[in-house]
Amino acid sequence: NTALRGIFRFYELMAPVLEEDDIVYLGEGNTPIVEANDHLATKTGIRFAFKNDGQNPSASFKDRGMACAFAYLKALVRKNGWDEVLTVCASTGDTSAAAALYASHIGSPLKSVVLLPHGKVTPQQLSQPLGSGATVLEIPGVFDDCMKVVENLAENYRVALLNSKNSWRILGQESYAFEVAQWCDWDLKGKCVFVPVGNAGNITAVMSGFLKLHRLGIISDLPRVFGVQSHHADPVYQYYSVEDPAKREYKPVAVTPSVAQAAMIGNPVSFPRVKHFAEQFEAIGGKGSFQVLQVTEQMIMDSMIEANMNGHIACTQGGECYAGLKRAKELGLIAEDEFAILDATAHALKFSGFQDMYFSNSFPAEFGVTPDTSLANAPQLVI
Ligand code: F0G
Repeated sequence: NTALRGIFRFYELMAPVLEEDDIVYLGEGNTPIVEANDHLATKTGIRFAFKNDGQNPSASFKDRGMACAFAYLKALVRKNGWDEVLTVCASTGDTSAAAALYASHIGSPLKSVVLLPHGKVTPQQLSQPLGSGATVLEIPGVFDDCMKVVENLAENYRVALLNSKNSWRILGQESYAFEVAQWCDWDLKGKCVFVPVGNAGNITAVMSGFLKLHRLGIISDLPRVFGVQSHHADPVYQYYSVEDPAKREYKPVAVTPSVAQAAMIGNPVSFPRVKHFAEQFEAIGGKGSFQVLQVTEQMIMDSMIEANMNGHIACTQGGECYAGLKRAKELGLIAEDEFAILDATAHALKFSGFQDMYFSNSFPAEFGVTPDTSLANAPQLVI
């Protein structure tokens, strides 16, 4: 069956009510898991691999969710006979790229509108929705300001909201967990999964996916899930850093510029779902099966550069995961015989500007990043 490729290999698990004709396949899913070389594994003291979700069609993991959301949307449009539907999303740059790509493939009656925080997406990310023919609105402020506008639109108008509040997105993104589980031969004992956390849709989907496999008896152990946040945007970390669950209190934070710019979010909309799934995870996997780590901007950049100088194609958020692994090791949270799978959520090329700033030592002061000269001296641009 040609429709059931990529993430739709797991059709029965995530989208059984869909009709196959509504499935939109642009090559999403089935992304490679690339193991770290001996140098990195020895240096880190843990064996690990990156799952390269930057090898999805719009170069980030968002395509998993969009493929599923657009399939459901096609079904809705067909059933209701709508002649025009605006799809809207707020974005730090990757949701918008994916939304615009799928909308452009389906075409009429869908029209894509994306809202981006002005100056806070990379040039490559900005060019993606424009290239797919979407209407791009740049808003002064940060992602959270864009999110308020689209939530307001969705409450008052008939628009299709494509942020991860949309549960079809989460269903599609569960495929990440299914693919990891399959790669591990359905044996997740001793496996740790590291996920960067922004609006918290990804970690929600990853936990939900593993829980689904467990409920169905497909896996007997859950992996351990580690969320990772930069100290410049860490509301989920702040919440879980309070040891006693009864004393935890959720507060949005004011974000400051982060190299993990795609995850620079102070008030993640999926936070309630993280809480829900984290409780379920801990009920089955016990204490330590779900944790959130905080890393510095410096650690994120050093980790991204180090990974990519050893054969990977990690974005800054992938670097964030690797920094999280090192932090987990430092804190004694992970044992040497465990194996970590790090989510390289987007392609390195979307974030090459940060890499250029590293090599030219030109980070604006607010990031607080100075290059590690043992890493940064190596590449030379000779003209
Ligand atoms: N990594 C990348 C490359 C992202 O684009 C995002 C989120 C995240 C990690 C964090 O994932 O939000 O599910 O917790 N990007 C969204 C966007 C917010 O608009 O592109 P999350």
